[in-house]
Amino acid sequence: MKTQVGIVGAGPAGLTLAVLLQGAGIDCVVLENRSREYVEKRVRAGLLEHNTVELLHAIGVADRLNREGLEHHGIYLRRQGQTLHVPMTELTGRRITIYGQQEVVKDLIAAFLERGGRLRFEVSDVRVEAVNSSNPRISYTEGRQAQELECDVIAGCDGFHGVCRAAIPDEIRTEYEFVYPFSWLGILAEAEPATDELIYSWHEHGFSLYSMRSSQVSRLYIQVGNDERLEEWPDERIWEELQLRHASEGWRVNEGPIFERGVTPMRSFVAEPLRYGRLFLAGDAAHIVPPTGAKGLNLAVNDVRLLAAGLVQWYGTGSSERLDDYSDTALRRVWRAQDFSNYMTQLLHKLDGGEFQQQLQLSRLEYLSRSRAAACSLAENYVGLPAQPDF
Ligand code: PHB
Repeated sequence: MKTQVGIVGAGPAGLTLAVLLQGAGIDCVVLENRSREYVEKRVRAGLLEHNTVELLHAIGVADRLNREGLEHHGIYLRRQGQTLHVPMTELTGRRITIYGQQEVVKDLIAAFLERGGRLRFEVSDVRVEAVNSSNPRISYTEGRQAQELECDVIAGCDGFHGVCRAAIPDEIRTEYEFVYPFSWLGILAEAEPATDELIYSWHEHGFSLYSMRSSQVSRLYIQVGNDERLEEWPDERIWEELQLRHASEGWRVNEGPIFERGVTPMRSFVAEPLRYGRLFLAGDAAHIVPPTGAKGLNLAVNDVRLLAAGLVQWYGTGSSERLDDYSDTALRRVWRAQDFSNYMTQLLHKLDGGEFQQQLQLSRLEYLSRSRAAACSLAENYVGLPAQPDF
């Protein structure tokens, strides 16, 4: 088989790239080792930046997002029973939208296939070869058959545990990593959210987050230790801890049947550069952020927006200028999001530094409540800076 762009991975990065290229008349094939059902059910964060929503509109996959997405204009920061509203839209003119990542994935798959896209699920033994030549290839197994896909370019969108990153030789690749000493236990519950905006709560016991998916479904998270197992967290303990950490006078978290639960480790990671020869990394294959700033999907979408623009220029004019800039340009936004995600994490989680760290956190939270400049800085990072203007 032959194509122009071989895309490894059908997550948000690979699928958004596929739909962008398809719209530009560039042929691509997407290879995914999981099943369609698996990727459509993979629960992740669900917060879309303004830029992300605009891009999904521009590529014609926002019909359901328009109907079901929940537009938000601020967040609450809570500590010791006091709640601060950060009015994002008032401070930045930009908004955020709550819409589950797996819903974005479903919409992208449906659109790509409906428009005639080639997408292979459940392929195995994926390997990228000759990426530093002008004839890169992806070999894989489909059914029991060994296959080879000849490409002009390969997009490595295969996530943190994927194979593409390792195709950049060690002596060229630099990896930066920070692993946090805590995780998030996340649940989905059939319960009407008891709040209009997301609540990020600081508490002596640890962080908790009140988010939502619809008027009937709440999404809640609590900070837990890295070694804790789900069995140690029966429903009553989860609700008790959520009530305690989110406590505010005369108000309660609405409880209901829990139908999804999982533990997410927290990691900050960046691999540089994002390009080696004809291989381009995008999304989690190249960088991971802790979920506190909800930047993972948004960074993935930004990467492929830049990559698609570079490919359109290259195929259209023969100039590789934008492709040559791809790594540096994408990484500037990645590092901004790394700093912001780390800041939000350090601001709100129970840290190892004991009471000294706690006092710093409380001082920072008070500063946010008293300084418009501080709130503005948080807000513009949270909603996402406008897209790089030259792309
Ligand atoms: C979510 O709704 O899953 C969510 C929202 C905001 C975050 C993280 C996760 O910071």
